[in-house]
Amino acid sequence: MISSLRVGRGLLANPAWAARHLGKRLCLVSEPIVHARYGRSLLKALAGLKIDAAVHLLPNGESAKTLASLRLLYASLSRAGIGRDGGIIALGGGAVTDTAGFAAATYLRGIPWISVPTTLLGQVDSGLGGKTGVNLTEGKNLVGAFHQPVSVVCDLKTLDSLPLREVISGLGEAVKYGLVFNRRFFDQMRRDWDRLLALEPSALAPVVRRCAALKLGVVAKDERETKGSRELLNFGHTVGHALEAECGYGVLRHGEAVVWGMRAALALSIMKTGLPQQDALDAGRFLASIKVPRPEVRPDRLVARMYRDKKVRGGMLRFVLLRGIGRPAVVPVTEKEARDSLEVLT
Ligand SMILES: NC(=O)c1ccc[n+]([C@@H]2O[C@H](COP(=O)([O-])OP(=O)(O)OC[C@H]3O[C@@H](n4cnc5c(N)ncnc54)[C@H](O)[C@@H]3O)[C@@H](O)[C@H]2O)c1
Ligand SMILES: [Zn+2]
Repeated sequence: MISSLRVGRGLLANPAWAARHLGKRLCLVSEPIVHARYGRSLLKALAGLKIDAAVHLLPNGESAKTLASLRLLYASLSRAGIGRDGGIIALGGGAVTDTAGFAAATYLRGIPWISVPTTLLGQVDSGLGGKTGVNLTEGKNLVGAFHQPVSVVCDLKTLDSLPLREVISGLGEAVKYGLVFNRRFFDQMRRDWDRLLALEPSALAPVVRRCAALKLGVVAKDERETKGSRELLNFGHTVGHALEAECGYGVLRHGEAVVWGMRAALALSIMKTGLPQQDALDAGRFLASIKVPRPEVRPDRLVARMYRDKKVRGGMLRFVLLRGIGRPAVVPVTEKEARDSLEVLT
């Protein structure tokens, strides 16, 4: 099932979408910072529509994504009398939508939910696609489920309060869609970059709309990541995920790690898929101009982490690379090639 998508400014002020997609017994799941800024007024707007929602606040950031916090959330859902005819509104960044989405996937064997991502990363990536889950002490996202939200509501107004670093992280992820799927979209983002950093609505709205629609389109064809097309969304993520883990979660933002990962994937594309020099220069220079912190990591440890990734098959790493901008290919990569690509980090 594909989620309906709404992108616009001020969508939280009139939550008719909640009445349309969920029953009358709802639980709003958020975290303290986002709730104070946007959740309270959303509750009032819901009350105006005669929807009386219970509230459950998760801890801020990655600490939301634990079995312990999930257990408290299940208890709140039960106390609030949420049945299969009710549902969850998840309001927050990826940490909230991952956790609340997983609760929706599992509580009463599955109840409907609406994803309302409030970070730019969430609006172009983590708030869409139905991958939900929490972390274990043994590793990130080890417990989870595919459970599509019935609707995704991206209110661009919520991004006004986002720190610049979170904006850059979301835009880094957005650049991925241009590089993998569409050269003209990549050129548009390069041209509009300063306006995007300033969150100018006329530049930002089409980018969020395009990324979200691209992601939902890919997900619709390959909901459970079994057919390969969803794999293309992992461009920059083999190295990116390894970097996030190696630096310690929270040190690099997800989109920042993906920017480094895309630089490594470009180096590999020159070696392995004949990425034309001009494309390599255009993409490489642009990615190098994005202001992300340079991590200090040991390449051998990063390569070891990549081998622990879910995507290793037959002992070979599998990378999404580019034959050209907008022309992706999934290619097996040797340990030495992967190590060589990490020179971009030094
Ligand atoms: N499910 C997926 O497909 C998917 C994809 C990528 C990442 N993720 C997950 O997403 C998580 C990261 O998500 P994230 O980057 O959105 O971070 P996050 O949820 O940790 O939020 C980052 C910070 O931004 C703050 N914040 C959120 N909205 C705000 C707003 N509008 N104004 C001001 N501050 C705001 C939060 O309080 C938090 O401190 C990770 O756990 C990652 O594993 C999931
Ligand atoms: Zn991502």
